[in-house]
Amino acid sequence: MAEEKVSRRDFLLYAMGGWAAVGLGGVLYAMYKTWEPLPEVKAAGVVKFDLSKVKPGQMKVVQWRGKPVFVLRLTPEMKKCSNRVIKNEYVVVVGICTHLGCIPNWEPDRQIFKCPCHGGEYDACGVNTFGPPPRPLDIPPFKIEGNTIVLGEAGPEYEKMMKG
Ligand code: FES
Repeated sequence: MAEEKVSRRDFLLYAMGGWAAVGLGGVLYAMYKTWEPLPEVKAAGVVKFDLSKVKPGQMKVVQWRGKPVFVLRLTPEMKKCSNRVIKNEYVVVVGICTHLGCIPNWEPDRQIFKCPCHGGEYDACGVNTFGPPPRPLDIPPFKIEGNTIVLGEAGPEYEKMMKG
């Protein structure tokens, strides 16, 4: 059986190639770790909120990505807006006026969101009904986990709402 001889030069070339491959792998891994968002940054975009904390007719504000999100629980008597209601009784909208970005106030007596800047109004579903706002309040991406709403993750309920 013929023994293959590896010359000193071939051996050095193989060894250098091996080290270069290991070095390149290390560099690529370091680049990946540098560019990948830190876990705390990833988690910062997601907020969980227990919907059962909101009583019927009550509106609570949740902070999400530096924005107020209005969580309103409708009473059976309040207007229903099937394509904007979660779990048949919650309206969840970004509390930033679609006109020029002011923060509307919830007026429980009139059951509207009223913008203090130019008098724009939205109904309880967040749909613009009066004044300069050009469109309804935005619905943040959300996912439902039992009684908890996860803001910042688009679940099937959100996808369906966006299509409807
Ligand atoms: S910013 Fe709300 S009506 Fe102008």
